[in-house]
Amino acid sequence: MTTRTRILTGITTTGTPHLGNYAGAIRPAILASRDSNADSFYFLADYHALIKCDDPLRIQRSRLEIAATWLAGGLDVERVTFYRQSDIPEIPELTWLLTCVAAKGLLNRAHAYKASVDKNVENGEDPDAGVTMGLYSYPVLMAADILMFNAHKVPVGRDQIQHVEMARDIGQRFNHLFGQGKEFFTMPEALIEESVATLPGLDGRKMSKSYDNTIPLFSSAKEMKDAISRIVTDSRAPGEAKDPDNSHLFTLFQAFATPAQSDEFRSELLQGLGWGEAKNRLFQLLDSELGEPRERYHQLIERPADLEDMLQIGAKKARAVATPFLNELREAVGLRSFVAQTQVAATTKKKAVKGPRFVSFREEDSSFRFRLLAADGEQLLLSRNFPDGKTAGQVTKQLQVGQPLDVRSEDRSFSVWLESECVADSPTFADNAARDAAIETLRIALTPVQE
Ligand code: TRP
Repeated sequence: MTTRTRILTGITTTGTPHLGNYAGAIRPAILASRDSNADSFYFLADYHALIKCDDPLRIQRSRLEIAATWLAGGLDVERVTFYRQSDIPEIPELTWLLTCVAAKGLLNRAHAYKASVDKNVENGEDPDAGVTMGLYSYPVLMAADILMFNAHKVPVGRDQIQHVEMARDIGQRFNHLFGQGKEFFTMPEALIEESVATLPGLDGRKMSKSYDNTIPLFSSAKEMKDAISRIVTDSRAPGEAKDPDNSHLFTLFQAFATPAQSDEFRSELLQGLGWGEAKNRLFQLLDSELGEPRERYHQLIERPADLEDMLQIGAKKARAVATPFLNELREAVGLRSFVAQTQVAATTKKKAVKGPRFVSFREEDSSFRFRLLAADGEQLLLSRNFPDGKTAGQVTKQLQVGQPLDVRSEDRSFSVWLESECVADSPTFADNAARDAAIETLRIALTPVQE
């Protein structure tokens, strides 16, 4: 099996992205997603947005703008899985399973919650004044986002590191309680990009909406120009040498320029280029870099139905992972179909003799499927869909009676047939040798154990 690194991150949909968001998060994430080794899951964290914002229009607008920004910036939705959190009902469902194992004491220690409490206490108010359960449970929802897709790496800002650690903690606890030796959840790691630009805003402090010092990204050329004209500079007159290393205007320029362009701009500043002209250069640069995506952005915003379609496709891709996985987790905690129960009991017995493990689950359309896992947990087969648990059960039985197996290889995978009907498929393997080894494992796994 290919082992690409799964990279997952969410964007809370409460605002309109500005130049700082673009350089600091959006652009690097889009670049990272082009690495052939990356399997990227990027999503709009709109359930998280509801925790911070009770203005429906703002939520609606922000989701649209953020989706359009990422696509206009060059995100390739064929390559990555791009979706809205709220389109994945498995997320809130997993949130509940995790809520039931998350220690309250752990959540008491969350920075964001503690900050609210500290502030309340300072003001002589009830410690929990104004604290919703949404805010309190914020880290559990985020853990569900991450664990649902077994992300390896989670690119986030420093303020989010604790949340990723909590996801590990909660995931580990779930694994321990219900995994029976199997690790359901991969332990995620926060990825802090040190090299990524934190852009200064108009006044030189970090560009941030809360400082009201941002440069708009895709609104219009005029608005960008107006903002640039408000960049604070020192009072050196045209003709006087400027100090590029102490100029946030230069820092902004550098974040979008090639090294050659930066060098040229630096020497011009040293030679006394006036600030007015310098702002012009910055505008020209940003406009040439961002003019095209800006146009794409406006085209996208004008066709919300297209955006909707793309996000629905993304949701479908995400749910192709989430639905079967959640079914497994439901099984694990005991939320099992009454019909499939006999199956599970049989499976448990098999495990005791270290045979293969059939794990059956129910699809959304209420058909039944099963996986065959080798003794070491490797997935050998994923079955086709069966109308009911009984049929699925019969197929697993038939596979184990010791008849010669009808295995058909195709490319780097294979399928298993019973009476001229394909009943299950293997995953795609790295190469034919890996495929053949898996077929061998399968044959051994399905050979009846002498008891
Ligand atoms: N809490 C994150 C933030 O505010 C957004 C987010 C939600 C997220 N779910 C996530 C980030 C999962 C990474 C992974 O920035």
